[in-house]
Amino acid sequence: MGTQRASDAAIVMFGDGRDWHGRSLTRAFKRRGITPLLVPLNACGFSTETATGLVIPGLGDRLPEGAFVRFVPGGSFEAVTLYLGVLHALRELGVTVWNDARAIERCVDKSTTTFFLQRAGLPTPRTFAKVDRAEAEAIASRVLAEGGKLVQKPLFGAQGKGLRLISSLADLASPEEVNGVYYLQEFIPPAQAHHQDWRLFVCRGRVIAAMIRHGSSWITNIKQGARAKAAIASQELVELALRATSCVGADYAGVDIIQGRDGRLFVLEVNSMPAWNGLQRVSRVRISDRLVDAFLDAALAPSRREGQEGA
Ligand SMILES: Nc1ncnc2c1ncn2[C@@H]1O[C@H](COP(=O)(O)OP(=O)(O)O)[C@@H](O)[C@H]1O
Ligand SMILES: [Mg+2]
Repeated sequence: MGTQRASDAAIVMFGDGRDWHGRSLTRAFKRRGITPLLVPLNACGFSTETATGLVIPGLGDRLPEGAFVRFVPGGSFEAVTLYLGVLHALRELGVTVWNDARAIERCVDKSTTTFFLQRAGLPTPRTFAKVDRAEAEAIASRVLAEGGKLVQKPLFGAQGKGLRLISSLADLASPEEVNGVYYLQEFIPPAQAHHQDWRLFVCRGRVIAAMIRHGSSWITNIKQGARAKAAIASQELVELALRATSCVGADYAGVDIIQGRDGRLFVLEVNSMPAWNGLQRVSRVRISDRLVDAFLDAALAPSRREGQEGA
């Protein structure tokens, strides 16, 4: 029986499982007869003394069938490289990892996301990323002289933290404030009287939930006080979100899309470890259930299991 087999499966969830998302995902796994092994990535590493070459507490010499990445902890460049190394290694060993480390890297670094969006031919605002302050000033002067404004974002930013609207050169952050990287993006003035954008949640090639976020300021993250409103995404939005997710190689993602005054849509970013508590409040589908179902379908697909078991 499918559920019988599923309950034998070792599924790792990287995170501490104590946050809302961790608890919601754990419940969804349990509905499928699986109790995920909750392990923070900073408890994992490598060892030549295990059969797998990896150290994942609770697994010993076994490999999991799947690994769901809820959260990659911060730390030194070396520490984060080690955590991502563990995720890369799991993929190399044939384990289903959601999201894959390559997708996480492409999404955490906003400049790489921009690169992939542009390469896929997707509309995204004009963007520049450089370490040189003088060059950042030159770019800003050029855009300001055209009558535009810029948004400065931390390269690894999330939840609307650390964003700045650049209306004059004096607004540019000091190098220390941005860890030495100037990520500058043309500001898209609001199409409506108020500030809003869309968040679409993509899972395995489908948009499973969508909302409009009405901002109390131009930064429309839920964490910054924006109000979520349920939305039925147009075909154009759906297509952009699906293409944005697939161009970075993500199996699921939260995609932010904004509309300019001329009606044109722009993909702002792709989140490989999105929050969905705000979206869940205005959605009928149980997002964690849909996500876990799709993940388990991929991780426990018969071809994969046979391959791993050497059957
Ligand atoms: N180029 C832009 N033009 C207008 N508003 C923007 C622009 N970039 C970001 N914003 C606003 O700021 C929010 C956060 O930006 P985003 O790139 O999604 O970073 P974060 O990772 O912090 O969510 C967006 O949801 C949007 O409301
Ligand atoms: Mg965002």
